[in-house]
Amino acid sequence: MAAMIMMKRNARIALMVLLTAGLWLALKPTIGNRRLTFLPVRWSEYVDFMDFWFNLGAFGLLGITAWLAFGTKEKILSRAFVMVGIITLLNVLLELVQTSIPGRAVDMADLWAGLLGCVIGIASGLVSQRLMNGRHPNNAVPQVLFLDQTGRLGGAELMLLDIASARAADSEVILFHDGEFRAALESAGVKTRVFRLGDEASAVDRQAGLSRALRCVPGLVDLMLRIARAARSFDVVYANTAKALIIGGPAAKLAGCPLVFHLHDIVADGHFSALNRRLLIFCANTFANAVIANSEATKAAFISSGGRAERCVVIPNGFLIPEVRSTAADIESRRSSLGIPPDAWIVLMAGRLAHWKGQHVLLEALQAMPDAHAVLLGDALFTDEDREYARRLHVQAAVPALAGRVHFAGFQSETLPFFDMADVVVHASVFPEPFGRVIVEGMLACKPVIASRAGGAAEILQHEHTGLLVEPGNARELADVMMRLKNDPKLAADLAQNAQRTAHDTYALHAVQAKIEAVIRETACCENEQAPVAETTAQIRQAA
Ligand code: UDP
Ligand code: GLC
Repeated sequence: MAAMIMMKRNARIALMVLLTAGLWLALKPTIGNRRLTFLPVRWSEYVDFMDFWFNLGAFGLLGITAWLAFGTKEKILSRAFVMVGIITLLNVLLELVQTSIPGRAVDMADLWAGLLGCVIGIASGLVSQRLMNGRHPNNAVPQVLFLDQTGRLGGAELMLLDIASARAADSEVILFHDGEFRAALESAGVKTRVFRLGDEASAVDRQAGLSRALRCVPGLVDLMLRIARAARSFDVVYANTAKALIIGGPAAKLAGCPLVFHLHDIVADGHFSALNRRLLIFCANTFANAVIANSEATKAAFISSGGRAERCVVIPNGFLIPEVRSTAADIESRRSSLGIPPDAWIVLMAGRLAHWKGQHVLLEALQAMPDAHAVLLGDALFTDEDREYARRLHVQAAVPALAGRVHFAGFQSETLPFFDMADVVVHASVFPEPFGRVIVEGMLACKPVIASRAGGAAEILQHEHTGLLVEPGNARELADVMMRLKNDPKLAADLAQNAQRTAHDTYALHAVQAKIEAVIRETACCENEQAPVAETTAQIRQAA
């Protein structure tokens, strides 16, 4: 039924006509007198013979229409067996019902004709599907439908922006909300559509419980069917967020399209409610042919929550290596526009304002460093809790010990000039950071970086070599480490240079894009349930 709803209107009408014709053909020879009234009397001796051909034709029609409506590009054999089974069962039931007609018994010839017709029909459906769509040739660029739940520009969206821009001619993006992300995609030449998610469903966040989740079901089903319809002309669906997976997973299944899930979150307490965790893992295990995790920590949390290890491959975020840097004059004018004195030592913290990102920890640490100024780059992007947190940060920043030393720069699309003017870049997440783009951006900008020792951050930075790691949430330790860097410019410079070299070698955008493209191609070509990323994982390990 869902598959019928998602078909185009004309296709739906054609399907109904075919089904009615099929049923009519199946029943016609058995209704009342078995002689076919429109045939000359002398032909009536061929009635049984005609019956056979009627059944063959009718079930052939049923088979072909069933395949065109419910067929798939993967797992063809099992889907075909299920269809033959269901249609044959119907055929048997029909024959049994007919035994109630006086003088009519179960006719084995009819059953065989039905079975044969059904097999021929499904085979013809398959052939015409192949002729219409063409099999995906191994060397063609797979057409990818990317899905993302937000219109804002978080780290996951910035990564998707880079991936989709690099293959704009062969990609389309569907967002569940409008916003600056759509504008950024469009200006990069990526075809983008917004399929709005109803307000009920939008209100469900990663911490939502059962009753809130249930209220949004109608909106979700509607969105899912629209995506399924869109997905039919693509080789791969690529879900970039949790909601994109939960809605896009069943949609991809309906459309017979394989799915890649890019996991940007640590699936654990603190990031997800228990219900949402189970739902996400269920959808990943059921619908995703490949899962790309942005760090080893993300992969480990996915597996320990029940995710399938053999489908999961780790690919970090990739970054364009900045070529043009700010001049001393640019830095000077930016400082003065923010009201920062020329000799002040600047700590930059970039990223959305959210409690788990730990801006409050930095402000607490800053109280112990009277000469330092903090620049907070970013805004509250996603939830009301984030907006409330941002309001509390402004209150915290107004205490006398900090007054005039905390500068809220808001969300900026050009972040590089802010990194350029910093003396140190701080990352202070109090929950494990899944990856942490801002850490790599600080390294690429050749700045010493301090980060929380957890999650992806602890994988990116090598303590005392490419940066300094501190205990998450420990403002005292953060203050000590900042003091250490402030008092030891040589250490700061060495860390920054090591970090820049490592970031160049490990996170160059083109290399990361190639790894993601390999997963997409492998997924597009896989037609069965086997672990599709096994080969790619091996290639990635070899390349590393
Ligand atoms: N960012 C930005 N403008 C801002 C603040 C942040 O473009 O004003 C970018 C930042 O440069 C980084 C991303 O937002 O690329 C944040 O990604 P990250 O992985 O650090 O954290 P997320 O917010 O995705 O959890
Ligand atoms: C998410 C994570 C962040 C990661 C980004 C890109 O937004 O919170 O840690 O860097 O995705 O993968």
